[in-house]
Amino acid sequence: MTGAEPTVLAGLVAAGLERREARWLVEECGSDHDALADALARRLAGEPLQYVIGHWPFRRLDLDVDARALIPRPETEELVGRAIDVLALSNVPAPIVLDLGCGTGAIGLSLLAELAERGVAATLIAVDVSSAALALCRQNALKHELYSVSFVLGSWYDGLDESLAGRVDLVVSNPPYVGALERVSLDPVLDHEPSGALVAADAEGVGGFADLAAVIAGAPRWLAAGGALVVEHGHDQREAVRRAAFGAGLRDVVDFEDLAGKPRILVARRP
Ligand SMILES: C[S@@+](CC[C@H](N)C(=O)[O-])C[C@H]1O[C@@H](n2cnc3c(N)ncnc32)[C@H](O)[C@@H]1O
Repeated sequence: MTGAEPTVLAGLVAAGLERREARWLVEECGSDHDALADALARRLAGEPLQYVIGHWPFRRLDLDVDARALIPRPETEELVGRAIDVLALSNVPAPIVLDLGCGTGAIGLSLLAELAERGVAATLIAVDVSSAALALCRQNALKHELYSVSFVLGSWYDGLDESLAGRVDLVVSNPPYVGALERVSLDPVLDHEPSGALVAADAEGVGGFADLAAVIAGAPRWLAAGGALVVEHGHDQREAVRRAAFGAGLRDVVDFEDLAGKPRILVARRP
């Protein structure tokens, strides 16, 4: 830290930032006072720190993040860990991975990068219904020099090439799963994230379940025999995702808690 920075830090804290956040901004902006003033104004206006900084760590990747896509969450890092374990059990040398609702690319790109470190050359198909999110995912793929990715603009499985049917080794997804009713009671900071990344319609009497239902029901058609589905869901949706997985004919259905002890990650296989 240079001599000027403690004063700058103190100024940011006096303006209303938490000390930890003030440090982030000083580290990001350095001696660029215009950039710092702009960042401070954005943060004080309620924009999430991650968007203000413009990039954020997710597992081993530093991902570009902005209002085009959801800020990747810590529980989704756990989902990636589960997906890696599942693929390790499958022992497929060059798996095809389908990331549905890729957003920044947090899940799929992390899988590509971490599997490559284990000598596994995966191919990723990254799907999103938002062209803006898909562009951000492409930006992150280029940033991390991850090239074995195809980008598909479309709703869940709709834009996939028919030739993929029955060939996908892993379908992974963190779809929107917050119901409209629950959404109104959540932190207003979420207003800065795309609503289409968070909120799903209700289905089968379960709040925010429609996208999960579509992802689970569609998986068997695209999965290879023995291929796995790994999806994140809301803490109160455990019974609904398990029922949907069995209803779709999937087997070896297990639902894991996240580190906070809440039901969060469904794993199932196509027989
Ligand atoms: C909860 S965010 C997850 C983003 C990223 N995978 C992550 O975990 O950080 C859900 C993503 O699904 C996308 N999405 C919403 N509806 C979709 C649909 N019908 N088909 C494909 N993607 C969709 C959103 O645009 C958003 O990027």
